[in-house]
This record gives sequence, structure tokens and C-alpha cells, in this order.
Amino acid sequence: MQLLALEYPQVFNAKAELILNDALQQMIYESVLHQADRPSRSYYLRFVKLLIETLERHDQAINETILEDFTTSYSAQAPAKEYIYKSYCITDDKWITLKNEAVYNLVGMTTWGAAYLLSDFILANKQLFQGHSVLELGAGTGLVGVVLNQLKPDIKQVVLTDYAPVVLNNLIDNMNINGIQVNDLVSNNTNDQSSKKEDMSVVEFDWEADFDQCDPFVKQCEVIVGADIVYEPSLCRYLVSVLNQLLQHGNNRVAYIASTIRNESTFATFQQVLDEHQLLVTDITHTSSYLTPSPFEYDRTQIVLFQIQLRPTH
Ligand SMILES: C[S@@+](CC[C@H](N)C(=O)[O-])C[C@H]1O[C@@H](n2cnc3c(N)ncnc32)[C@H](O)[C@@H]1O
Repeated sequence: MQLLALEYPQVFNAKAELILNDALQQMIYESVLHQADRPSRSYYLRFVKLLIETLERHDQAINETILEDFTTSYSAQAPAKEYIYKSYCITDDKWITLKNEAVYNLVGMTTWGAAYLLSDFILANKQLFQGHSVLELGAGTGLVGVVLNQLKPDIKQVVLTDYAPVVLNNLIDNMNINGIQVNDLVSNNTNDQSSKKEDMSVVEFDWEADFDQCDPFVKQCEVIVGADIVYEPSLCRYLVSVLNQLLQHGNNRVAYIASTIRNESTFATFQQVLDEHQLLVTDITHTSSYLTPSPFEYDRTQIVLFQIQLRPTH
């Protein structure tokens, strides 16, 4: 039911006869269920089950094509797919799609819960990003990047970074899928200004590498964001050192880091290293506003949002 409401808010909130008429079911079939690559098999099966339940509750008949397709798919072996495509309606008329790995393998090839929370935060607090260049650390599949792109032309530049080549290529694919032109500074690794004509860039940036050697695009950003980048204790020291250097690189810089606390001790390590660098950390999880209702389906109980700045000097 919730899934139906998310996929088709306009239809779902309309009168029952509208939701259930055969032509609309056929439209749902053709525009979502019949697509070869999306959604994932498990999502598809859940979606159609909910559709059938809803129809039964309203004493209405299921469209025959959907039923036939569902019966065949249910009994068939799950096909081995390399990628799945997840789509979200982030504003009334804006749909976005992200390619994810079908089977979990690399952390950066899946969209994580903290990215949903950070996206809800960005969409509800656009003024914090207006007039600034924004850098994302560990951008993964690029949800936050696509959301930041929605803020254009009110933001100057968006620089999406990650370090694994597969993840970076997928990040570029996902920008392309959503019609976003990017400066691909991964394959075109030069300082040539003509390769930087777009206001969205994808750049390789490894927290463990020498900060002084990183692309000037990375260093110029005033606002830094990151989602689910605190997950590995051994990375905390590098990550915080990078945050510290980026914040020091200009005046009034700020970072918004959303993290899912899966392991208390990993998060304690992150907080301890932030303390060692004497950074000013504010937990803004419960004082911030978020896009409501959220276009994403996720559990936010374990997710925190930190605002990180340099301490003011007197
Ligand atoms: C758990 S994923 C989060 C991805 C995305 N932000 C999201 O929330 O969906 C962590 C991300 O950090 C990136 N990462 C890990 N170690 C890194 C490093 N040393 N330098 C840069 N990125 C790194 C991974 O490639 C991955 O994309």
C-alpha cells in the first residue's frame, strides 16, 4: 500500500475508481512493470502483491496482462541481473533513477539510508546551499548529487567524489541516466579549463591520498556533504583529517555528514577523532527540517546528522 502511494501519489490519493480502472492498471504495467531493467524482481513481486490486495479490498478485478505476467514471473527462476534501477519521485513531477548493483558486492554500488536522510535534509533546507559550491565525499551511486542538481542554478558548482573506479564510472552513468551533464574528471584527469565547462563534476578523491595533490575543484567547495561514510574504523582518521583540511581551506565552511550508526564503537572512534581535531560538532538530527513526506522508503531511527565546522577563533 505504502509502495503504491509512493509510486503513484497522484493516482493513489485520487478516488478509488480511478486507482482501479483497467486503463490505469495497464499504464502501471507498461510504464513500470514491463520495463526490462526495472524494478528489481523482489520489488516487482511485492508491488504486484500489494496491487492485488488493494484491488481485492475494493472488490475490483486485476488487469489480465498484469496477472499473467505476475503468474509467469512468480514461478520463473530469478534471472541473474547485474544491475537494478531504482526510481524515486523527488518532487511532484520530477522522477530520478539510479543504477545499483543487483547483488551486494561493493559498498559504493548501493544507495544507503543515510543518503535518503541527507537528500530529505537538502531538499528542505535549500537556502543552506544557495550561492555555494558543494562537495560530496564518498558519493556512491549519486543520489545526493542528483538531488543537489535540483538546486541549480541557485548553487554554483557540485563536485561528486569517490575513489573506487567502478563506483566512479557508475556515478557518471547515473548522472547521464538523469540527463545531467558532468565534467568527467575521472577519465579526463587534466587541469585543462575547457574540460570543466559544466557545473557538475565527478572527481576521483581518495581520503587516504595526499591532500595537497587533490584536484583544485575539490578544495574550492564551501559546503561539504557526506552520507554513510563513517562505517570503517580504520578510515575515520583519514576522513576527519580530510574534513579538517577542507574546512580550513576557506572561511565559514561547513560540513553536513549523515551517518547510520550500525556499530557504536566505530561511531565513537569518529567522534573521538573529531574531538582530537577540535572541530565544532553539532548534532542536528532532531533540530533540522526534512522533506515531508519523504519520497524515499527508509528507516531513519539509526541515522544521525552532524554539522561540522571549525571552532571560531577569538
Ligand atoms: C557506504 S558507501 C555510501 C555511499 C553513498 N554516500 C550513499 O550513502 O549511498 C561509502 C562510500 O565511501 C566511499 N569510500 C570508502 N573509502 C573511501 C576513501 N578512502 N576515499 C574516498 N571514498 C571512499 C565508498 O567507495 C562508498 O562510495
